[in-house]
Amino acid sequence: MSKPVLVVTAHFVDEVEARIDRDFHARRKPKGTPFTQEELLSAAEGADAMFVTPVDRLDAAFFERLSSSVKVIATYSVGYDHIDLTAAAERKIAIAHTPGVLTDATADIALLLMLGASRRAYEAQELVRSGNWKSSAVTVLLGWQLTGKILGIYGMGRIGQAVARRARGFGMNIHYYNPGRLPREVEGDAIFHDDPYDLLRVSAFLSLNAPETIETRRFLDAKAIACLPHGAIVVNTARGGIVVDEDLIAALKSGQVAAAGLDTYQGEPQLHPGYLALKNTFLLPHMGSATIETRTAMGMLALDNVNAVLSGTPAPSLLTPDRQQTRLQH
Ligand code: DGY
Repeated sequence: MSKPVLVVTAHFVDEVEARIDRDFHARRKPKGTPFTQEELLSAAEGADAMFVTPVDRLDAAFFERLSSSVKVIATYSVGYDHIDLTAAAERKIAIAHTPGVLTDATADIALLLMLGASRRAYEAQELVRSGNWKSSAVTVLLGWQLTGKILGIYGMGRIGQAVARRARGFGMNIHYYNPGRLPREVEGDAIFHDDPYDLLRVSAFLSLNAPETIETRRFLDAKAIACLPHGAIVVNTARGGIVVDEDLIAALKSGQVAAAGLDTYQGEPQLHPGYLALKNTFLLPHMGSATIETRTAMGMLALDNVNAVLSGTPAPSLLTPDRQQTRLQH
């Protein structure tokens, strides 16, 4: 039997590559050369499935023109803001993502950002690497401690909950906003706020852990930032589109936000130059899921979904259009 044709827009870890080679006839471009929209549409002609990443923007216009041979598209991400789920559903194309397998890796990076921002890791690295570290002056690079502080978690899905578990280990008190309150046994000692602005008012630290949807897009704007206690620390491992960059940069300059740790950006891999010009930012290149274990598991889950849809068996993690309308959980 001939292998299904899979359009693959990136190059993955070895185990995932081996499975692609073994099970599919892959259509792809050389490493480091992304598909243009036109190239992607033409590669999809006659293909059975596609394996994409958040770099690929699959909007309504894309789905209008996509070959009717394509039955399933799997994205190498839990986030799905780059795919118009309604347009896909109208064309009866199944969309799969990779929830669950990147929870721990992403939550680890949220803690790295909280520590990096609050303990001024960027300035500290600069001091050491520039050779300017002359003496241990006792008032140099004073940061802000996590112990005893309130961590507000905006979006208490799998990743938000994993951030909470870790932050408790640092002696933080957990508050959260979510469209629905978690069951008692999951919530534990975390305090639920049914209004996100109430959450902001108590959050000495704020962690964004929601997907980007109609509801969450541009949530952290000047009005929201003004609700935070003065000198709050903000971290984002979710999506850059949740933040209004100009407003966060203004707050970082004024001190309303003491420091920010960011792993995701609007328009990445480009980011607002204002962040680069500030010393109170700790910036990473969207690497929440970047461990060998997690990236392997993501690839395997994506391919499990492709195989399941093509063989007509239940797929482990398909998305439905309602996820883009209201749901906050990641
Ligand atoms: C995800 O899976 O959504 C991560 O942010 C990587 O894109």
